[in-house]
Amino acid sequence: MGIEYLEKEQLFRLTTPNTEYVIGITDGIYIGHVYYGKRLGDARCGYLMRTGEHPFTPAQKKREKCSFADTYPWEYSTWGVGDYRESSLNVRTESGYRGCELHYEGYQIIQGKPGLPGLPATFCGEGEQGGGQTLELYAQDPVTGLHVTLRYSVFEDSDALMRSVSCSNRGSQTLYLEKVLSACLDMDCGDWDTLTLHGSWAREHIMDRRELTLGKYLAASARGESGHQVQPFMAVLDRNADQEHGEVYGMHFVYSGNFMAMAEKTQFGALRMVMGINPEGFEWVLEPGADFDAPEVVCVYSDEGLGKMTRTLHDLYRNHLIRSPYLHQKRPILINNWEATYFDFNTEKLLQIAAEAKKRGIEMLVMDDGWFGKRSSDEGSLGDWVVNEEKLPGGLAYLADRLTEMGMKFGIWFEPEMISPDSDLYRKHPEWAVQHPGRELTQSRAQYILDLSRPEVVDYVYESVASILRSANISYVKWDMNRQFTDVGSLYLDGTHQGELFHRYVLGVYRLQERLTAEFPDLLLENCASGGARFDPGMLYYSPQIWCSDDTDAVERLAIQEGTALLYPLSTIGAHVSDCPNHAVGRNTPFQTRGYVALAGTFGYELDITKISPEDQAEVEKQVRLYHRYQPLMREGDYYRLASWKENGTWDCWEVVSKDRSEALVTLIQVLAEPNYHSRRLKIAGLEPDGTYELEGTGQVYSGRLLMYGGLLVERTWGDYTGTLLHFIKR
Ligand code: DGJ
Repeated sequence: MGIEYLEKEQLFRLTTPNTEYVIGITDGIYIGHVYYGKRLGDARCGYLMRTGEHPFTPAQKKREKCSFADTYPWEYSTWGVGDYRESSLNVRTESGYRGCELHYEGYQIIQGKPGLPGLPATFCGEGEQGGGQTLELYAQDPVTGLHVTLRYSVFEDSDALMRSVSCSNRGSQTLYLEKVLSACLDMDCGDWDTLTLHGSWAREHIMDRRELTLGKYLAASARGESGHQVQPFMAVLDRNADQEHGEVYGMHFVYSGNFMAMAEKTQFGALRMVMGINPEGFEWVLEPGADFDAPEVVCVYSDEGLGKMTRTLHDLYRNHLIRSPYLHQKRPILINNWEATYFDFNTEKLLQIAAEAKKRGIEMLVMDDGWFGKRSSDEGSLGDWVVNEEKLPGGLAYLADRLTEMGMKFGIWFEPEMISPDSDLYRKHPEWAVQHPGRELTQSRAQYILDLSRPEVVDYVYESVASILRSANISYVKWDMNRQFTDVGSLYLDGTHQGELFHRYVLGVYRLQERLTAEFPDLLLENCASGGARFDPGMLYYSPQIWCSDDTDAVERLAIQEGTALLYPLSTIGAHVSDCPNHAVGRNTPFQTRGYVALAGTFGYELDITKISPEDQAEVEKQVRLYHRYQPLMREGDYYRLASWKENGTWDCWEVVSKDRSEALVTLIQVLAEPNYHSRRLKIAGLEPDGTYELEGTGQVYSGRLLMYGGLLVERTWGDYTGTLLHFIKR
């Protein structure tokens, strides 16, 4: 396992426990892709680059260099020198000439994994298994003086491969980076599909699989955030691949702003996949001596379908990305007042909710939007982070103290990156909003975006949040972000640097959350962006959980959480039980089912517990017990998707198995009841074949083999939206 250089063959071989990635150097100059897949262990694989074959003409034959460039499997594609597939890098000189060609210069194999300055990135884990190695390949463009480092890291305990790219201007003129993607993967392509996660507000992360045909398939955001509309993720997979079979190549971007992910099937039936910062609206000025670091891409190869890709990503994020001390801790069961009261609350109301919640075993009250400035609707006050004493007499300290006396923790909502036109802050500092001078600012939810490229704005935002946190006993922050970019301009940046705003903004968000988690290391931070608009690996570096969607309907959540859990551990997925009829869709579902769905996430409540029926209140107590019982399993276990109601139209099913295979919890939701059917035969995954498992509550004992290969017969339930939990314990 690890990284080695095979000098004779001019190959770099990167191995993980089950995969291998091979890079070759052609003619001592070009950095090419040889192989990515199952472990090969054969140094003779260099021929896979096809450099001896027409039209993959060797570079020395100058008269066909163009067709070489357009067919060679580049590790990192550049624009303007004959490769007409999607480029990864483009640069402009002071005189306006565009283009770049990278010549290999050397390499270094580093023990461990260096961080990326100012950016979230995976890191080596703890203990012997968590170690890693990094390969740096150095290349330069002989004409512009641009030096590029291609970085590849592997960890001993993971089948993921991490890539990033850094550019450095070692020439004497200013260079303009027009496009700097983070990964490019050129491979042969069979009958494959692409898989992406699409959506919108309140219906995020819905799986979308489609045939990969000739041409380009793009998934991208130019909204300034990763966005509800599509995850910064793309997989290509064998047409026959399913949950547990077939080949899958996934790429996931550790970044929270504009991105592009593309799969391109070329004229020769080959595949190029690229991922990185979206070049639309992007330009970075690279002065002589300056560096630019492009964010990290996580690549995963699985030969056991989507499920193995999922479990590789879950483990990677738990062991190598999330830093919060809460990662392996039970999160307090919270009750959030948003769907309970919206803006209409005061201290008394919150204390009533908290008191009732406490009786049922809930552990933390989260006060959502509306506690500051004059905010009694979403019309104003963002930026004025001063407690509204009319609603909260005695301020936050009074409320927090009463909650502490009650034995409840206290959490609070912020939307720090925003400014309302109707706010004291905007009246004082209109120049702090992101804007295009002369153009009327476009409102979205009656708000503008703060220009986080401006250092004093970052300081103001930080102090606004930090001084509130210093003023009372606050254990949790929900960090919201409720609009996307328009009028993309900064009054702080000069004309040549306007193209940097999007990226500088994201760096500003990262700086803020880095400072916050450093000053308040025990704070439980939950990111949020109108639900799941910034649910991305970048934010997970700062917060162990992210609010997944503003749609809390249990049925809608099945598909949303299925898509989210394709990539993210359940412990990161913000999920609450809310009231019915549901506020997003008006559907009535059993309280029990709502609980089962929220258990596959961080778990909490978002309703007025003083108003629900005594039966539902009693059900809360049961759910709290279930949470205490199952949360270590949900948080740390291996996730298997057993059925998808989006696919089959009637039922949904997932399973979490403990790492030591000693227990498994299967959640089955029957969305629509059907008449006149037999029981369902459900094959339980991930058990020890020779183990003996008891299905809790039945006294029935089964072998692991019987459950996995034969399956269990599960009776259908009466009625729509019903849920069943099956808990298997190894005897
Ligand atoms: C959007 C969030 O997703 C909601 O949960 C809530 O916090 C509102 N914003 C408050 O404005």
